[in-house]
Amino acid sequence: MSHTPIDLRSDTVTLPTPAMREAMMAAELGDDTVGEDPTVNRLEARMAEMFGMEAAVYACSGTQSNQMGVWSHCTAGDEMLIEKLSHIGSYEGGAPAVLSGVSVRTIEGEFGRLDVEHLEGILRPIDEHFSPTRVLSLENSTNLGGGRTYPLDQLQRVGAWAHEHGLKVHLDGARLFNACVARGYTPADVGRYVDTISVCFSKGLGCPMGSVLVGSQEVVTRARRARKLFGGALRQAGIVAGAALYAIDHHIDRLAEDHEHARLFAAEIDHIDGISADPESVETNLVFFELDPKCGAAHTLQSRLGENGVRLYSVGQHRLRACTHLNASREDVLKAAEIMREVVRQLPADVDGAVHNGYP
Ligand SMILES: Cc1ncc(COP(=O)(O)O)c(C=O)c1O
Repeated sequence: MSHTPIDLRSDTVTLPTPAMREAMMAAELGDDTVGEDPTVNRLEARMAEMFGMEAAVYACSGTQSNQMGVWSHCTAGDEMLIEKLSHIGSYEGGAPAVLSGVSVRTIEGEFGRLDVEHLEGILRPIDEHFSPTRVLSLENSTNLGGGRTYPLDQLQRVGAWAHEHGLKVHLDGARLFNACVARGYTPADVGRYVDTISVCFSKGLGCPMGSVLVGSQEVVTRARRARKLFGGALRQAGIVAGAALYAIDHHIDRLAEDHEHARLFAAEIDHIDGISADPESVETNLVFFELDPKCGAAHTLQSRLGENGVRLYSVGQHRLRACTHLNASREDVLKAAEIMREVVRQLPADVDGAVHNGYP
């Protein structure tokens, strides 16, 4: 049993580094609800510029900034289109319906991504029987889709299709910087094809909290009202916005290291009898892999690994997810793979078939 667990559950488990904590301590503060926090103002201006958008608004979480986007684009009774595996549809507690009165229509794409071929013919006539389709929401990188990223030409194509049909495009970019680093495009390249983007600082960038929604001045003004309604308007938020400014300067380029560690981990565990991980498919910091049913259920592997000092999530009957990040070194990843080899070898054939419905 290892005494310091190797925690590969998510990049959300990362802790602020000492330098980030110093930046937080040094941040200039004011009352952000009346627009007087200089650090929040700097962060919002910086993000708007980075994404080539007119404005940005700081939010508490990725869920909150996604839902501020939904609320800003829609009125109650509208419908949004999302990919079947999307976070907005799977893990945000039905928030579009609860907060905005918006229904979601899920579409099956490819690894959580949508292309025009998945969307053609999907729109219904404008008729009192149907809820008006208002927004198309995309996710980049995809979470349940396996950490996959959009090629820029696909974003352009799908964005143009939506705009031609009068839809707004929202992008859930909780891990957008991972996509930028993996694909070699810039945030502004992505900003060109969509109307709003939600970006998280609390994932691979290692901040304790915070997200931002970028878009036009008009939509961000509406999003500020949504933030107030959702209880997310903060006072001296510069203390956390300071962490985000630090992360933008110091933690974006290093995401390449997390991606390399993810590929390494996938390659190592793919050699284990009973595991298939497809290392070629790993684009960013998420590794989804399958446990051969003859070895039992994924949740059993998750708990045996936990007892042996490796933490990750089971996300299906025989499917698990590991995530590399700032607080997991190359040595940690290699050690975790070694522990998994031993644990899988000792797994009892336990085919109880229980499905884990936890949050990855
Ligand atoms: C793709 C995606 N979108 C949105 C979120 C929500 O972020 P938060 O947990 O900050 O609400 C997550 C969280 O993991 C995510 O993976």
